[in-house]
Amino acid sequence: MREFFNDYVQSLETYIMFRIKETVAKITPELTAKGRAPISLSMGAPTATPPRKVIESLKSAVEEKGAHLYSTPKGEKYFREAIAKRMKTRFNVELNPDEEIFSLIGSKEGLANFVRVLLNPTKDDNEKEIIWVPDPGYASYKEMVKVSGGKAYSVPLTPENNFMPDLEKVYEQFIKDGYNPKKIKALMINYPNNPLGATATREYLEHVVDFCKKHHILLISDAAYIEMYFKPELKPLSVLEIEGAKDIAVEFFSFSKPYAMTGWRLGWICGNSEAVKIFGKLKSTLDSGLFKALQKAGAEILNSEEGDKYIEESNKVFKHNQELFVKGLKELGWGEFNVPDATFYLWLPIPPRYKTSVEFTDDLMHKSGIVVVPGDAFGEYGKRYFRASIVCPEEQIKEVFERMKADGFYFSA
Ligand SMILES: Cc1ncc(COP(=O)(O)O)c(C=O)c1O
Repeated sequence: MREFFNDYVQSLETYIMFRIKETVAKITPELTAKGRAPISLSMGAPTATPPRKVIESLKSAVEEKGAHLYSTPKGEKYFREAIAKRMKTRFNVELNPDEEIFSLIGSKEGLANFVRVLLNPTKDDNEKEIIWVPDPGYASYKEMVKVSGGKAYSVPLTPENNFMPDLEKVYEQFIKDGYNPKKIKALMINYPNNPLGATATREYLEHVVDFCKKHHILLISDAAYIEMYFKPELKPLSVLEIEGAKDIAVEFFSFSKPYAMTGWRLGWICGNSEAVKIFGKLKSTLDSGLFKALQKAGAEILNSEEGDKYIEESNKVFKHNQELFVKGLKELGWGEFNVPDATFYLWLPIPPRYKTSVEFTDDLMHKSGIVVVPGDAFGEYGKRYFRASIVCPEEQIKEVFERMKADGFYFSA
């Protein structure tokens, strides 16, 4: 059968999160029997119930006349207008809802299809077009590029560069590595970052926009975690706030994380009108838009007091959980790690006695039933790290550290 299938797709691994889920399902009986029923610190998804308002809006929206008919790929006008209003009030960014905003079936879908819009696929490795991706970064980026017949080039985010690398230096390294700068199609950025929780300053975003303009590179900003932050003075910025960014940038937003609506599959792309237009061309051949009732409920939560309150309260919970984790890790003598100002992730070094991050995460899962993600999944620069999501209830956090102590998971045991 192999000959029937696309080479790029055949080269894909099952997505890391689903692989972890499958393994956990297999070993759950054994773990439960020894009093170590799995505790998931692996899913990048809030576990709370979405705001009451969005559920009530959805219930009434499904009863509306015409709700069950096809929408348009671009999204209903009221949906795009609500997004434009949110972008104005939250970021002071002016957008034309008819030309600069397009609906998405979640930002993962949007990013994957946007990459397809850019890349001319080829099997010739020397001819492959290139997208720069953050490393460590969201595991899907590289796979999206690969499956679209392009090549992903790692932009290293390290503590040394404060997770904001000088892009001119990356450019020099890229040339030293033997790549052709003419092949670069786009740069992807993701602040606040998954898995690091790192945020970017206004100055850095200005540097990114200047760099992309100077080298004629399209800028893709993934803003999935933009509402997850712990200090009002460090409220993450939209890249579109930077003057002139719209000339070369698009940005991806999601309802998934801020409102705990991961299963709804709702998001949007906005920014450069030419890019949005051509993206729309592809989308109109691939799907027929979002269920109207979802758009109605989404539009209503975006500019509501309840929505903002929900985000504020959720961030307080994440911050509290972060404090509990930091305390627990310190008690285990954990090595140096960054305590982020955003997201619900912690990016942690593996204890020195382990050879690889998978060796550590497997040991933690099999001995203690604690499920985290090995750093390798996020790129070359993740080799000696792992990611913990801190969205679980407080009792489970306590249990995590009780088990780690009982099972000898001290940093330098
Ligand atoms: C960095 C990043 N971008 C995008 C997504 C996709 O989110 P969604 O498709 O639910 O909007 C995720 C999900 O975990 C993510 O971590």
